[in-house]
Amino acid sequence: MSVVVFWFAVVLPVPAPWVRALLVMVGFMCHCERALMKVLSIIQIKIDALLERVIRIRESDAIRPMEVLFNCKLSRLMGGTLNSTPCKCMLLLFVFILILRALLFPSLPGFGGVEWSNIVFIRNHSPIRIRQDKFLEVPQIVWGLNNQKIAFARACLTARLLNRTLLMPSLSASLFYKEIDLLQPISFDKVFQFDKFNSLCGGFVRLGRYSDVLNRTRALEMQKGSGRKWTVERDLGQLRQHSIGSFDDHEVIRIVGKNPFLWHDHWPVKDYAKVFECLILVDEFAKEADRVVSRIRAVGGGNSESTEVGNDGSSFQPLPYVAVHMRIEIDWMIHCKKLEQRLQTNQICSNKKEIMERVGNIAGLKTPVVVYLAVADQLLKNSSVLEGWQEGFLPYEKKKLGVDGIYSKYPYLIQSAIDYEVCLQADVFVGNSFSTFSSLIVLERTQKKIRMGIDGMCGSEVRWPSYAYNIAGGSNGPMRWITNMSDSSLKAISYGTDHISC
Ligand SMILES: *[C@@H]1O[C@H](CO)[C@@H](O)[C@H](O)[C@H]1NC(C)=O
Ligand SMILES: *[C@@H]1O[C@H](CO)[C@@H](O)[C@H](O)[C@H]1NC(C)=O
Ligand SMILES: *[C@@H]1O[C@H](CO)[C@@H](O)[C@H](O)[C@H]1NC(C)=O
Ligand SMILES: *[C@@H]1O[C@H](CO)[C@@H](O)[C@H](O)[C@H]1NC(C)=O
Repeated sequence: MSVVVFWFAVVLPVPAPWVRALLVMVGFMCHCERALMKVLSIIQIKIDALLERVIRIRESDAIRPMEVLFNCKLSRLMGGTLNSTPCKCMLLLFVFILILRALLFPSLPGFGGVEWSNIVFIRNHSPIRIRQDKFLEVPQIVWGLNNQKIAFARACLTARLLNRTLLMPSLSASLFYKEIDLLQPISFDKVFQFDKFNSLCGGFVRLGRYSDVLNRTRALEMQKGSGRKWTVERDLGQLRQHSIGSFDDHEVIRIVGKNPFLWHDHWPVKDYAKVFECLILVDEFAKEADRVVSRIRAVGGGNSESTEVGNDGSSFQPLPYVAVHMRIEIDWMIHCKKLEQRLQTNQICSNKKEIMERVGNIAGLKTPVVVYLAVADQLLKNSSVLEGWQEGFLPYEKKKLGVDGIYSKYPYLIQSAIDYEVCLQADVFVGNSFSTFSSLIVLERTQKKIRMGIDGMCGSEVRWPSYAYNIAGGSNGPMRWITNMSDSSLKAISYGTDHISC
């Protein structure tokens, strides 16, 4: 232990002797297991958030001394076990030093949250690999949030193939499939952070603004083909052709015709995952999502009954929550019955009873647990989704949580993005493997685990598990679900699958 304390005292420029004394005190605390457990359980959530920000570091050696900590954190905390005292001490020290640094050196860059990510990017600053003086323009991105995310990523990857900057496209705030004039274009940067996107995705794909273009009147129009004869190969041929010679001389290439969701797909799943990772909600909406999440956690942790349970320290931890993307509304049922017929399977449409039963049988899930039901608005009118859950499962939807007011302020796209975020942050996620919304969430959760270096992603000890309730797993629970990142196309996600890796 003294080694660790010594290490911190030497490595970090901590000037005052009283600070060193404090460090030693912390080291001493590490021998008092129980006290430590309590402190740890309170700060664990905070650490998670912090680490997530920090672990966006692409090259893990960007901040060398932190590595020890990460490994420690990753191997121990992720597994949900807190067995090694050195680990706990390291963590405590880590947080302690952070607070200290923030207090002592508020002006120093590199510590205290946001600046971290900046310093990482500066250090990592990769040479710009996408040309900044050639642009690609794409049609307005339309339909549901998932379709829009996929279409956006596809537009980015198309631009990358052409080695061009993608002109920031318009998304659609409302959900209309046919009435084009009702689509309510909303600028990308009203929903996602523009600069953050470029810094996170720097060098891989790049977004530009229309004001960056010198002469928009000279755009070259590129008509996307359609129909049976327009094969993947022809589509790729067209793109290749437009990336050389006189085509390539044009400052702007404007793709006309279909929306990018309908374009042929030429990219592996991991390329999509890279783009999705760079999509960070603007603060306003991220805060709304945080409000919903903290309301959910308050349901579990704010309960005075449960805070008095036992002296084992675990009572300080807010209850984990399970997010269930429950698709049982009538239009989905019609759609999925047809799909079942076509694919000759009965593993797509789960009814309410089956979903409740399978969620109730998730192996190793500790109760009481809060279940957040991400359901279509039409189901909120009928409280029956909240009834019939097993003992220890506390079902909530946005109405019962009292957060429907947060959602109703916003158009469709934003509501959907908030719900997406709430499912992403859930301790456990359960969805339908034939739903694109569920599939994208699992893709991002899988990516997050990879980023944090979690191995053996199907084991029962692994953090942030996801499940598909439409497929039976062990002991009549739902099937474990991770995205196969080596898949060569996104097809499985956009059309649904019962092949879910675990
Ligand atoms: C794009 O073009 C630049 C300059 O010609 C080149 O250095 C870079 O490698 C290209 N990037 C890709 C992704 O092809
Ligand atoms: C833009 O291009 C058009 C067509 O070639 C040309 O007539 C016009 O003068 C250009 N405008 C600028 C500002 O260069
Ligand atoms: C709510 O849904 C259940 C089953 O889906 C149905 O039996 C019940 O009649 C519905 N109640 C109302 C008020 O619509
Ligand atoms: C993942 O996808 C790759 C490529 O399609 C395939 O070879 C591999 O077997 C898949 N892995 C699993 C676990 O399904």
